[in-house]
Amino acid sequence: MIGIGGFGQVHLTSLRTLAHANRAKLVAFADPTAARLPDTVAALTWEGVAQYDRFEDMIARDDIDAVIIATPIFLHVQQTVACLAAGKNVYLEKPPCPTLAEYDQLEAAWRASGKVCAVGFQMQAAPVFAYISELVDSGKLGTLTDVWAAARWPRDDAYYSRASWSGRYTLNNVPVFDGPATNALAHVVHATSAIAGAPVRVRGALKRARPIESFDTAYIEAETEKNVRLQLLLTHATQVEKGPIARLRGTGGEATFDWDMNATFTPTGGETIALKFPYQNMVSILLNFIDAVETGSEPATTLPQTLSFLNVVNGALQSGGGITSFDPALIAAVNDDTPKRLYTVAGLDADIEAFTDDPAATPSTVAPGPWVPVDEIGRGLYGV
Ligand SMILES: NC(=O)c1ccc[n+]([C@@H]2O[C@H](COP(=O)([O-])OP(=O)(O)OC[C@H]3O[C@@H](n4cnc5c(N)ncnc54)[C@H](O)[C@@H]3O)[C@@H](O)[C@H]2O)c1
Repeated sequence: MIGIGGFGQVHLTSLRTLAHANRAKLVAFADPTAARLPDTVAALTWEGVAQYDRFEDMIARDDIDAVIIATPIFLHVQQTVACLAAGKNVYLEKPPCPTLAEYDQLEAAWRASGKVCAVGFQMQAAPVFAYISELVDSGKLGTLTDVWAAARWPRDDAYYSRASWSGRYTLNNVPVFDGPATNALAHVVHATSAIAGAPVRVRGALKRARPIESFDTAYIEAETEKNVRLQLLLTHATQVEKGPIARLRGTGGEATFDWDMNATFTPTGGETIALKFPYQNMVSILLNFIDAVETGSEPATTLPQTLSFLNVVNGALQSGGGITSFDPALIAAVNDDTPKRLYTVAGLDADIEAFTDDPAATPSTVAPGPWVPVDEIGRGLYGV
């Protein structure tokens, strides 16, 4: 493992379950600031897991088949390329990288390696996602016309001060592009993009209410090769925790799904069917990766499958002319001078409420920029 703190802790738990079943053995980990996690390090040391500061030293070992990379976003490309070049299979946490140029590097390294490179968009392996995919693929929804998703997830000062890369657009000139659509709610962008199909053109606006470099609110529209309109309105600039919820509309009915694993299906003129699925088990996503390594099957999320996600977020960035601030007159700080400080935008909650019900409801607080054809999306980070 590279990176044992933060979300890496979830993978450590899964790996112990897999070790009990003799399906995986954690050999080593690399994390230069592991000393901040003395209990974790003590347990891993007792379990015989070797510790490294530098991941390069760890991957030089020839008794490692696969590496889980759960590090900050701006380290993903460098570490993944090095692991693949060293002949290791890689499970890379989402998002794969900030920019299309970096995606090109990842794809080239992956293809040259002949190894597995799975991306940690675990919703793709969730039972609720299989149900929704089947509704689309079987034609039960008729011809799909709209996919839209809304999410409000308050993120306070404590969240933004947890890591040096939080809220950053770049760090030491390396792209970070941290924000709801690219980090905490990236799953929503990826899952809905996967359903809607590859984007043909994108427009949007990435905005900030909080005084950060990057964005805390995303409004994104895309038209896809399946003739579906994808629309997303996602924010951390709110006091209200609601969603994410994704909705689908087709000529044969409507469907919804959410990250509490609820799904509904309403055939046109028919009764709503509501189902609750079990949570996606993080052990099973690693088993899916191990299966890909052992049998050559495709992992739940392949690198090329993340290209729609990258086009959608980078297209919105370019369309909006980079990240811009909300009208300062609309921004308010709540719980000022405490770690629970939040920034909110007058009218944004009402916009999201209306948009959740009707994707044609035009937000009053955020307007998309011009359409950007996908082949005109810049490969570097916009403006850098
Ligand atoms: N799949 C999910 O549901 C999910 C959820 C949360 C986070 N994530 C992803 O996990 C990744 C990590 O996010 P986080 O919030 O845990 O980050 P974080 O800032 O907490 O860092 C995670 C770990 O990486 C270590 N690290 C930093 N630099 C390193 C280096 N050079 N070499 C090795 N280790 C290093 C840190 O010390 C820390 O222990 C991100 O890509 C994030 O988007 C995924």
